[in-house]
Amino acid sequence: MTRHTAAPLPATLAGMIQRLDHSRCSGTRELGTEAGSVATRHYTDPLHWQQEQQAVFSQWPIVAAHSAELGPHSALPFDALGVPIVLTRDGDGRARAFFNVCRHRGMALVAPAGADPAQARPCKALVCPYHGWTYELDGRLRHRLHAETFDGIDAATLSLVELPCDEAAGLVFVKRSPGPAFSAAAFLQGLDSHLDWLGLAGMRVFRKIDRVYAANWKLTVDAFLEGYHIRVLHRDTIYPFFADAFIVNLHAGPHQDSLVARRAAFESFETPGDRTALCKLATPTQLLFPNTFLIWHPDYVSLIGMFSPAVDQVRWVHTMLIPPDRCGEDWTPHWEKTFGLIEQTVFQQEDIATAVAIQRGLASGANAQFQLGRLEHEVLRFHRGIDAAIAGTLLPAGGDAVR
Ligand code: FES
Ligand SMILES: [Fe+2]
Repeated sequence: MTRHTAAPLPATLAGMIQRLDHSRCSGTRELGTEAGSVATRHYTDPLHWQQEQQAVFSQWPIVAAHSAELGPHSALPFDALGVPIVLTRDGDGRARAFFNVCRHRGMALVAPAGADPAQARPCKALVCPYHGWTYELDGRLRHRLHAETFDGIDAATLSLVELPCDEAAGLVFVKRSPGPAFSAAAFLQGLDSHLDWLGLAGMRVFRKIDRVYAANWKLTVDAFLEGYHIRVLHRDTIYPFFADAFIVNLHAGPHQDSLVARRAAFESFETPGDRTALCKLATPTQLLFPNTFLIWHPDYVSLIGMFSPAVDQVRWVHTMLIPPDRCGEDWTPHWEKTFGLIEQTVFQQEDIATAVAIQRGLASGANAQFQLGRLEHEVLRFHRGIDAAIAGTLLPAGGDAVR
């Protein structure tokens, strides 16, 4: 991979690298301050699920797409938040979001994806397939067939219903309820500088998968917040490449960045000058609260959205991002094989299968609580974040942005 960015190494990321070096030199793991527990009803209780929907998924900016998925003059349906949304990008380059609902009689303007994951389609305008009402990509109603028959009902009152939407560091964020604008950069509370240094915005989409599994969404989040399980669950797949639970974490509000040490860091360690060097030593992993992960494998990135269509279901949307200098057709077999290994073998057969098995076991009532040790402290912090969001004591940063 060639050098990808001129962005300077953020001091916060440099600090994490130093801590990783100290941890490996001293052989000491960074631990949480105390063990704790999570009530298992948080994975099964319909009331808790409703509270999450209202306080978290309706109110917080959620990653809807990588910026490269939404080219100029295109529209991308997005329905993982449970309401039909369409993202657009006009010639001005700005990403916007609307309810994917015609203002005439409610038809979907852009058909949802069907069996395959959603892809943007090039377009100059949104044309309703029912009676042909036509909207600009900025949401204004441009044309009504037989407009005179609407007796002067003003077209200006019939723009698409816009949703708060903003873009930062190569990610398009949306809120599923109409309301004031927000700043995606401010929302990221400094992690945008990490993602800029890593070169997220310059990555390209190789493959996307969008599936529903029978597990509460937080069970899959939990799986990516601790390295305690890697040695056992992933013994034959990725554990050969990783140190046993050597992780440093940085909190940025409710978000976090983690460096998950690879075995190579214990063999030789030089302060990395770019993403490629860093990803040899450790796997940077960001949780963008509440439901998005970025995992920086040695030469590609997994962008994963974990959505919650029902209390006992997770909608898993995994987008594999590859570096722009490895997009040619000659790379396709390499990436196909890589995607198969990470998505089908590691994620589906190990992490997701575990979440599904746990969800099945929850019905037994064997555990009123799950016990979490000091290597799993980030799982505890995440659940406390959800509780605080439900209680109204944790609000997204950047919420009062004015365009
Ligand atoms: S519902 Fe869209 S034009 Fe009639
Ligand atoms: Fe895992």
